[in-house]
Amino acid sequence: MSRVALVTGGSRGIGAAISVALKAAGYKVAANYAGNDEKALAFKQETGIPVYKWDVSSYQACVEGIAKVEADLGPVDILVNNAGITRDAMFHKMTPEQWGEVINTNLTGLFNMTHPLWSGMRDRGFGRIINISSINGQKGQMGQANYSAAKAGDLGFTKALAQEGAAKGITVNAICPGYIGTEMVRAVPEKVLNERIIPQIPVGRLGEPEEVARCVVFLASDDAGFITGSTISANGGQYFA
Ligand code: CAA
Repeated sequence: MSRVALVTGGSRGIGAAISVALKAAGYKVAANYAGNDEKALAFKQETGIPVYKWDVSSYQACVEGIAKVEADLGPVDILVNNAGITRDAMFHKMTPEQWGEVINTNLTGLFNMTHPLWSGMRDRGFGRIINISSINGQKGQMGQANYSAAKAGDLGFTKALAQEGAAKGITVNAICPGYIGTEMVRAVPEKVLNERIIPQIPVGRLGEPEEVARCVVFLASDDAGFITGSTISANGGQYFA
């Protein structure tokens, strides 16, 4: 019986690459998405991976969404907390809404998704939680006080939960991607991207979503059973945590 993997934000960007890589590695995969029906349905048609719509910033929506996934595919063994948004603004211009949306999705979303799955993983004695944080949670980033705070919080969450899960066969790890060539990064003003960001990346290019996805496949595997509470940086040498 193949294991079941659930990827939040799993139909676009890094999440889509993760969903596809996990399917290729033999998992039964469900991809959650929040908003873009057209892209999600196209992704489903292209890959054969079922898509499920709910907003990870709502605990109740997560409980209901997870119940649907488990009814269709069986208990979730691997959770990839990938869904994330940006609302970039210099702090003096940042609104409480921009702060709240990012914290609720990028940090509280991890609680909302992990908590309903945790007891089942404990009971079955196996689980993999893989949290997609960010280089900007490690080093901070101007224009991202909200995002950097949430992504740093994801790392604290990872380390605390790793200690609770260890004796129950559950590993909890984080990946910190650097700047990856997705829509999220391409939304950064071109001048900032070309003149300020790419020159800071020693390998001289944006990362590929698949370069993050391969880290996820490794952390999900039995080979990674002794790795928990750790952070893998995939950032082209831009920052050494
Ligand atoms: N690195 C270095 N310098 C940056 C920067 C960055 N990432 N972002 C902005 N700056 C600099 C600008 O070049 C500018 O400098 P100058 O005045 O010397 O030209 C200064 O900061 C102010 O920037 P703007 O003129 O653009 O100010 P603004 O108020 O119009 O916009 C902003 C501010 C919304 C933060 C905009 O600059 C921006 O979107 N910057 C990118 C922020 C960023 O890196 N976001 C990451 C998105 S990708 C992601 O989050 C995925 C991940 O995990 C890595």
